[in-house]
Amino acid sequence: MAKAAADKQEAGRKAKSYSKLRGMKDILFDEYKYWDLVLKKASDLSNYYGFKRIEVPIMEKLEMYERSTGKTSDIVTKEMYVFVDKNGDKVALRPEATSSLVRAYIEHGMFNLPQPVKMFFYGPLFRHEKPQSGRYRQHYQFDLEIFGEDKPAADSQLILIAYNFFKELQIEVQVQVNSIGCKECRLEFIKKLLGYYKERGKRTKLCNDCKKRILKNPLRLLDCKEEKCVELREGAPHMVDYLCDPCKNHFIKVLEYLDDYDIPYNLNPYLVRGLDYYNRTVFEFWPNEQGDGRQVSLGGGGRYDGLVEYMGGRPTPAIGFGLGIERTILKIKEKNIPLKEDSDKIIFIAQLGDPAKRKAGLLFEELRRAGYQVRQSFTKDSLKNQLEEANRMNAKVSLIIGQKEVLDGTILYRDMESSIQEIIDYNKVKTELEKRMTEKRDKEEEPGIEQEAISRLPKNSM
Ligand code: HAM
Repeated sequence: MAKAAADKQEAGRKAKSYSKLRGMKDILFDEYKYWDLVLKKASDLSNYYGFKRIEVPIMEKLEMYERSTGKTSDIVTKEMYVFVDKNGDKVALRPEATSSLVRAYIEHGMFNLPQPVKMFFYGPLFRHEKPQSGRYRQHYQFDLEIFGEDKPAADSQLILIAYNFFKELQIEVQVQVNSIGCKECRLEFIKKLLGYYKERGKRTKLCNDCKKRILKNPLRLLDCKEEKCVELREGAPHMVDYLCDPCKNHFIKVLEYLDDYDIPYNLNPYLVRGLDYYNRTVFEFWPNEQGDGRQVSLGGGGRYDGLVEYMGGRPTPAIGFGLGIERTILKIKEKNIPLKEDSDKIIFIAQLGDPAKRKAGLLFEELRRAGYQVRQSFTKDSLKNQLEEANRMNAKVSLIIGQKEVLDGTILYRDMESSIQEIIDYNKVKTELEKRMTEKRDKEEEPGIEQEAISRLPKNSM
């Protein structure tokens, strides 16, 4: 009896199914058409503007993230996945990429390379945040970083690239920009800011988080999303009014370049960013329409001129951004932006019987090598099932080989839309495919051309 109960328990244990961790996502099959599209856009733009791809480990010493990202940032204080490994070393999953990229710049002696060094990073990051739509515990970013360049042209070029990224994916964004100055002028500003919050007991009205922030990182009071803090900041001083001359001139130049590029931007005095390493220009990309009224940033970045030195390298100005891939894809889906598909070129190869299966296999390889978008389902024997599969794949043409076709040296060309089938010579399959598919494409385009011709006719001729 006891054995039976134990067996039952064991069976129950084996049958248990698992679900993924909260805030983590599987990316399934068809979903990849979005990921491929976005990654292609990111890598095309990176190549175009001369950025080279780099990958860094997904975990590093905890200490490294603490030093670079800053002990007061939410990312370090609340959101990092930290653990002790088998050697007793404290490590963390990377919550952001910039720290590791700075570490790599120093560790590989990249200051010896011709400057600037321009990096393109794409990969997953881990933050133990409260999950919600567009906020995950594992998310992906496309980051660009420029090391060894302090000129404002670098700032505006990065903003331009990110703007192009969204625009070319047909996502309208608002560019938010601000300057948080350098260590010296920011100190002056922070004194003014603290003075403002001390006046008439404003401090006591702050949310609990801001009551702590005022001691550790008062700038963050400005970007708190709590309603009462948003109201309180209305009369707060603006950083741009306290910039020293070099910081002011730098910022003016950045804005002038943005004007030259015709990039609309919003000077946002409350934009300070959530990481401690920034100085001077900071920026974010917000979607044009806010779904539920809350502000969700599609990407952001800024200068971090002191970080390389602070992490043990030579003084090296730097700037970069990170764009959220999931949020970008959500926008593409939300707006139903049509994806350009290649399905009008898909050719399905179907077979019936053993000798045909072998011949179909050879034809598949031959067409694939010649660059055709061929598909097959050779494990299926029924022609009906194979043609159903061809329809599911959106194939425009199926090439069918049966016993008779093997003997005759022919092949059946089936137009999947009209279901009309024609016999063609097997040896001429490539020429026939080329001819027929071009004819079909031209025909499909014709009404458009006719339409245009008609619309160009003088009105009185109709
Ligand atoms: P960040 O603002 O923390 O900056 O993240 C950049 C972008 O990543 C965000 O605007 C958002 O689109 C996306 N993102 C962040 N957290 C999540 C999340 N939990 N779920 C989904 N998407 C998310 C940085 O990480 C800086 N390292 C960027 C940078 C590069 N600055 C200079 N260089």
